[in-house]
Amino acid sequence: MLRMLIILRLLQMIEIYSLRAVAKKLAGRPDGWNREHLWPRSYGLIDAPALSDLHNIRPADVNVNSSRGNKYYGECTDTSTDCLRPANREAALDTETDKQRWAPPLQVRGDIARSLMYMAVCYGFHVPDRNPPLQLSDSPNVQNRTMGLLSELLKWNEIDPPSREEQLRNERICKLYQHNRNPFIDHPEYANLIWKPTIPTISTTFSPSLQAWVNEFHYNNKGEDRNEFVEVIVKRSTDASTLKLILYNGADGKMYASLPLEDGQVFTINNSNSGFLIFTTFVRLQNGPADGIALVSGRNDDHYEVIQFLSYGGTLKAKDGPAKGIESIDLQLQETKKSSDDDSLGLTGQSLRELHWRKFVRGATPGKLNIGQRIEDTMIHSKIIPH
Ligand SMILES: *[C@@H]1O[C@H](CO)[C@@H](O)[C@H](O)[C@H]1NC(C)=O
Ligand SMILES: *[C@@H]1O[C@H](CO)[C@@H](O)[C@H](O)[C@H]1NC(C)=O
Ligand SMILES: *[C@@H]1O[C@H](CO)[C@@H](O)[C@H](O)[C@H]1NC(C)=O
Repeated sequence: MLRMLIILRLLQMIEIYSLRAVAKKLAGRPDGWNREHLWPRSYGLIDAPALSDLHNIRPADVNVNSSRGNKYYGECTDTSTDCLRPANREAALDTETDKQRWAPPLQVRGDIARSLMYMAVCYGFHVPDRNPPLQLSDSPNVQNRTMGLLSELLKWNEIDPPSREEQLRNERICKLYQHNRNPFIDHPEYANLIWKPTIPTISTTFSPSLQAWVNEFHYNNKGEDRNEFVEVIVKRSTDASTLKLILYNGADGKMYASLPLEDGQVFTINNSNSGFLIFTTFVRLQNGPADGIALVSGRNDDHYEVIQFLSYGGTLKAKDGPAKGIESIDLQLQETKKSSDDDSLGLTGQSLRELHWRKFVRGATPGKLNIGQRIEDTMIHSKIIPH
């Protein structure tokens, strides 16, 4: 039986948009499969190596391949009048398409995102005699060879991390065929570093003049949630006894926890070796969407200053508690059911003025500064310099 299965597997492959097994020998037949270029040929693939790069080629059902045509990738929008679900009679049920966009099955959205990112990096900067180079963007354009939609691909890369099959395929392409790897399968976090390097945080969620700020947290992982925490950094000169973390539920806008920083049962305090203290609480956090964390200051229950109000997976408006009436700022970064219990979201950067949020994969550091983070008080120096 097992042998039968193995032989069948050798004679078959899985079509990318229908996720159906097809016999290899049906190549090119109307009832069979053909080679689908994920980055379409019309968007600048003229000849080898770009045209025949295995990282960009998948088997697809002939009919489904032709209905994808050269549409760029993206989900239907509220204004799509002609959204089709599934995208084709023979495509998987969770595919969709409108006149311009094509959304593959959920299970391979990340795979496709990472293939396109690979193409943009491999053939985007150094293609002799080729102009313009391949690029990713939110305004795709055939002449300009800009394929998209970049923001959807970044999202898909986050919600569908590399699967075992995808890693195995990368491995085989490298060992047996092309002898190179798709780095985004090995390091999915590179995508945000390249295409989403700065989330506008300075004036919105982080300001160097802050006396205190939320610096890192972890809220979701594979299996039972573990190691959940929130870390807050407070200037030594600030009276931490006025500070509280308020946790908000995105579904109804109501607070579900209030955590005073001065409560030694709730927070541990560590030193940062600079003018700051690191307060960490290991607390259960809700898993979104649009759940929030507010850092507030005040003694009087009726009068709080909201220092920061962040959310993950969308924005929310607080309906009660100290942030009542205030809208959160979405970090645009998320953890998922596939994150490790050692992942986190946190601030990084080489000085207080350039801290920005990013996702740390297997790099959570509760009670310590984050990877790549320095928070020397540069404000002190700037005060000394006369104008
Ligand atoms: C797949 O479909 C595309 C778009 O219609 C087409 O250009 C390409 O030739 C097809 N692949 C094959 C191998 O026929
Ligand atoms: C294509 O590139 C040109 C030159 O860079 C630019 O002016 C034009 O706006 C681009 N078109 C689109 C649709 O992005
Ligand atoms: C922070 O302080 C606590 C208690 O004082 C200690 O157990 C913990 O190891 C410290 N964490 C780090 C990262 O230094």
